[in-house]
Amino acid sequence: AVSARVADLLDRMTLEEKVGQMLQLDARDDLDDHVLRRTVGSILHTSPERIVAARELTLRTRLQIPLLVGEDCIHGHSFWPGATIYPTQLGMAASWDASLLEKVARATAVEVAATGIHWTFSPVLCIARDLRWGRVNETFGEDPFLLGELASAMVRGYQGEGLEDPTAILATAKHFAGYSETQGGRDASEADISRRKLRSWFLPPFERVAREGCRSFMLGYQSMDGVPITLNDWLLSDVLRGEWGYTGTLITDWDNVGRMVWEQHVQPDITHAAAAAVSAGNDMIMNTPTFFEGALDAVAHGLLAPDAFDAAVERILTLKFELGLFENPRTPVDGLEQIIGSAEHAELNLEITRRSLVLLENDGTLPLRPAAPGGTLSPVAPGGAAATARVAVVGPLADDAQEQLGDWAGGSGQAGWLDGQPREMITTVLDGLREIAPWEIVHARGADILTLAPDPAGATWPDGQPRPPVVKPCAPDAVQIAEAVAAAEAADVVVAVVGDAQGLYGEGRSTATLELIGGQNALLDALVDTGTPVVVILLSSKPLVLPASVSNAAAVLWVANPGMQGGRAIAELLTGAIEPTGRLPISFARHAGQQPTYYNQIRGQHGDRYADLTQSPAWSFGEGLSYTTVSYSDLVLEEAALAASDTIVADVTVTNTGERPTIETMQVYVRDRVTSVSWADKELKAYRQVSLAPGESARVRIELPVEDCTIVDSAGDRVVEPGEFELLVGPSSRDEVLLTAGFTIT
Ligand code: IFM
Repeated sequence: AVSARVADLLDRMTLEEKVGQMLQLDARDDLDDHVLRRTVGSILHTSPERIVAARELTLRTRLQIPLLVGEDCIHGHSFWPGATIYPTQLGMAASWDASLLEKVARATAVEVAATGIHWTFSPVLCIARDLRWGRVNETFGEDPFLLGELASAMVRGYQGEGLEDPTAILATAKHFAGYSETQGGRDASEADISRRKLRSWFLPPFERVAREGCRSFMLGYQSMDGVPITLNDWLLSDVLRGEWGYTGTLITDWDNVGRMVWEQHVQPDITHAAAAAVSAGNDMIMNTPTFFEGALDAVAHGLLAPDAFDAAVERILTLKFELGLFENPRTPVDGLEQIIGSAEHAELNLEITRRSLVLLENDGTLPLRPAAPGGTLSPVAPGGAAATARVAVVGPLADDAQEQLGDWAGGSGQAGWLDGQPREMITTVLDGLREIAPWEIVHARGADILTLAPDPAGATWPDGQPRPPVVKPCAPDAVQIAEAVAAAEAADVVVAVVGDAQGLYGEGRSTATLELIGGQNALLDALVDTGTPVVVILLSSKPLVLPASVSNAAAVLWVANPGMQGGRAIAELLTGAIEPTGRLPISFARHAGQQPTYYNQIRGQHGDRYADLTQSPAWSFGEGLSYTTVSYSDLVLEEAALAASDTIVADVTVTNTGERPTIETMQVYVRDRVTSVSWADKELKAYRQVSLAPGESARVRIELPVEDCTIVDSAGDRVVEPGEFELLVGPSSRDEVLLTAGFTIT
């Protein structure tokens, strides 16, 4: 029935109406005019008033075609004051818990759909391999397998049972493909990446969600081999539409079509750029207002046939019919206040935040108190000796509500045009400790991070969009540091919350350094010098490099941008009310010059260290401590000689050897000993999360199809090459903690 309605409508549309359907515009001043002139088919970055007004205006147009409303709701509803903001995608990835991420995406869809938005530009499937890149926070980290698991869960959550469900929204897999493989970490720079590498690591997660029915794909900004993705015939036609049979909708990134003229200089004018973009198979053109005139001009000059738009418009109308927008426009619903930021979503948020915290170092200082059955918070000193009377909570991020939310959260980063989220919905670390710890809490800021100044190169880009401000690091302030030191000296333990801040991350905001900036290193040095145990909480958009003094800190906890419930979950972890179970989805460098640090690097180079530094990361993919200890033993393969159609079956014993419960993330890697082309040293192929009570042992079965042991050969084909392999099982990607069993594939 949908296809008949689409065909009927398409038949009645003028050329201008078809071109208009392909254009997505932001909430610009002349938007109403665009709607009335039928030169827009979708809007983004809008407001409740705009959604309602635009709907009313479409009813005054000839065919009354509703608009699709899109937004970047990538870790909660980024756009609505009072909506639930979860940890960033990178933070949630640290939970390694796909079912929880699916629940978060479902809950986000419920909030987003209720506000009249139909389309989220999430999840991000870029692989983060250069930590200087400003958008690492938006990714699931460095591993394609983990990424595929989590992305697919989020797509299921957003799209729910089907688009006819009024709480379902369209998911977008972005940015197709290779966008993160930047030069020098610089955002949207040309990606120097071969088709074989794309097929090896960058495309598989996209293929997975394409086959699972993700309804739209967003195309990256960058060029590969000289061709902007927007025009990449091999990627769009041969691979996506051809090999994978993808029938979903393609949307460009922001002004990709205009950029081909003013930024990349690969098209002489908008007429040619529009013609090229339509011919390459793009469906929705994000925010290139001149596309409308350019496309019509291209038809007038014979660069495009009048029916060149039909396939794209058919796909767009199909979405509108399937979402039921002609009957129910899905404008903000009655009773919205009960849905947005509901108590139920806050509880889910707390749950995923608890699971996303990664304890990297602990000399035994944490937990600051043992978990007391019955919940009485009797103060116990670090290490459990004498009573702890006072905790100094210091650092520029200890009480910074906005930074806890990170990018794409009302009032922050990319979404800076929106109102901030209500302060009372956000629990900072200081709030959290004050709420649940029974000790005296003293607070000192200790340092500032940065100020933002207008870019001296000008206020706007050539397309009229504002240029991001320039970051000016703050100098260490002796008075602030002295206050923090005094607080530390008078305390039993210091909780120091440091990290990065808006301006240092987001689109177009990559960094040359990974170090803590402003007065933060000086602050940490001075705090560690006091001799009071210092618990460092790194609240950062991405892995950062900590100063040498931190090797003398008592503990290090990485929390990403942990969202609204961050301070509460962190306080629970510090006080031992919950267990640390997060595991790194991305490796931490010791130095910005150490890039890349991802674990699954290609084998072969002279030596295994820089002349002046080890190559080993500070903390590697998969690492994370618990409050207990876990041992792995007796890895036994059922069969060590296998054929290509077989399944690898192995059992391993995982034992909680300590005194606290835990959820252990058991990781399974495969190493192909000899490959016909250079290949990753090892790759994650599976993982299991095993709940273990103190002293409990579990015999865990691993079943892995041999066909998962593929490489991509020199012809670009994914094949299993017979030979010797290793199955590696353990708590992280570090060889020294993995049990190994050899097997052969014949
Ligand atoms: O969805 C985003 C994309 O990830 C980066 N450029 C802007 C788009 C819309 O906000």
